[in-house]
Amino acid sequence: MDESPVDPTVLGGPPPDGGRYGTDLFAPDQTGEGERIDYGALAYDTATRARLTALGVGPGWRCLDVGAGTGTISRWLADEAGADEVLALDRDPRFVHAPPVGRLRVMAADVTDPNLAPGRFDLVHCRFVLMHLREHADVLARLADWVAPGGWLVVGDAVDLTTADSPHDAYRRTMAAMWQVLRERIGTDITWVTRYPQCLHDLGLLEVGAEVLLPPLTVDAPITAFWKNTWHSLRDALETSTALERGELDNALDYLSSPTLADLSPGMITAWGRRPRP
Ligand SMILES: C[S@@+](CC[C@H](N)C(=O)[O-])C[C@H]1O[C@@H](n2cnc3c(N)ncnc32)[C@H](O)[C@@H]1O
Repeated sequence: MDESPVDPTVLGGPPPDGGRYGTDLFAPDQTGEGERIDYGALAYDTATRARLTALGVGPGWRCLDVGAGTGTISRWLADEAGADEVLALDRDPRFVHAPPVGRLRVMAADVTDPNLAPGRFDLVHCRFVLMHLREHADVLARLADWVAPGGWLVVGDAVDLTTADSPHDAYRRTMAAMWQVLRERIGTDITWVTRYPQCLHDLGLLEVGAEVLLPPLTVDAPITAFWKNTWHSLRDALETSTALERGELDNALDYLSSPTLADLSPGMITAWGRRPRP
């Protein structure tokens, strides 16, 4: 087996200029895109809800969910956590399905738009978005600006602490090829996310904390379905732009469908910090 599908140095240095999430990959009108995002949400919502609950979200709070996706966290904030107002912002919010009236509002906007000024919030939440934005440092600073005094910024993105050590060659190589494709095609970069606590501290936030969740990969787990759907969505790019060998992607997909699958997925780092009161 060729052990060099991906040049590991591709993970270092600035991403090349080029495409963007939602236009060049993961277009919302691509079949199954809403379902793919939903599987990711299913894998991580329990952890995100627990963190937001621990930070005290509830009645009286105004919340902003940036890159709301299918709106699972936005709806939970409005319907179950009892926040007063929730704004679900996404460049394409077609999957959010907010009721016409109620505490949940939807806004179509690009978070990289320098003219965007949605207001001040007690909670600004942004999960699996900044890693896909070349301007992530600038956007993170603007998200911090949108937090009201005493409010919280909560950010989450992918960490891959496990797949380089997976016992399964094709899975390991496909995951590495996927990160390569995402970086080359849309600028996705997860190399900086373990520095979130320092970034939040440097933005003047207090009570900074962080946690990492690594979901087990088992045959019926939502995270397993998420990776299968993601790789199907990226099949052309994986097969034409990487050194994956013929049949290797299908071999990796078979591994994810195996009843004996017992591995660890890439995970999610969540980090939070609080804007000081004057
Ligand atoms: C991987 S999904 C994550 C969805 C949701 N936050 C979750 O964790 O389930 C990324 C979302 O960010 C949105 N998005 C990507 N780039 C964006 C941008 N520049 N401005 C606003 N939303 C963006 C996408 O449309 C998509 O809904």
